[in-house]
Amino acid sequence: MAETATTTEECMANEIKGETWEVIQYLAMALKADNEGKTEVAQTLRSIAMDEAQHGSRFKYLAGNIGDLRSEIEKMLSGENQAVDGKHEGMKVADEAGKKEIASFFDTAAHDEARHAAMLQNLLDRYF
Ligand SMILES: [Fe+2]
Ligand SMILES: [Fe+2]
Repeated sequence: MAETATTTEECMANEIKGETWEVIQYLAMALKADNEGKTEVAQTLRSIAMDEAQHGSRFKYLAGNIGDLRSEIEKMLSGENQAVDGKHEGMKVADEAGKKEIASFFDTAAHDEARHAAMLQNLLDRYF
C-alpha cells in the first residue's frame, strides 16, 4: 500500500494512511462474510482489522501527532458534531434518491456520532 518515501516521517505517514484504509477494508469484508454466513471468516478479518488499527494508531502516536488530551478531545468533539450534520445531509440525499437502506444507516450513524459527542463532552466535564 505504501508510496515511495525517503524519511522516517514519510514512511510513517504512508503507514498511517495505508493502515487506516485497511481497517475499513477488512471490516467491510467482514460484513460481507457475515451476510454470507461465513462467521469464522468474518471473525478472522475483524481480528486482522484490529491489528491494523493498532499499527496505524501506534505510528500516529510515535509520529508525535497527538497533542495535549484536552485540545485533542475538544477537536474530536467538534468533528463529531459536524459528523451529525454530515450524516443527516447524507440521509436526506439518500432518502430523496429512494435508497432506503442507506438512508436508514445514515440515520443510525448520525445517532452514533451524537452519542460520541456526548461521551466526549462527559469526559471534558469530568476530567479536564
Ligand atoms: Fe498493518
Ligand atoms: Fe464518531
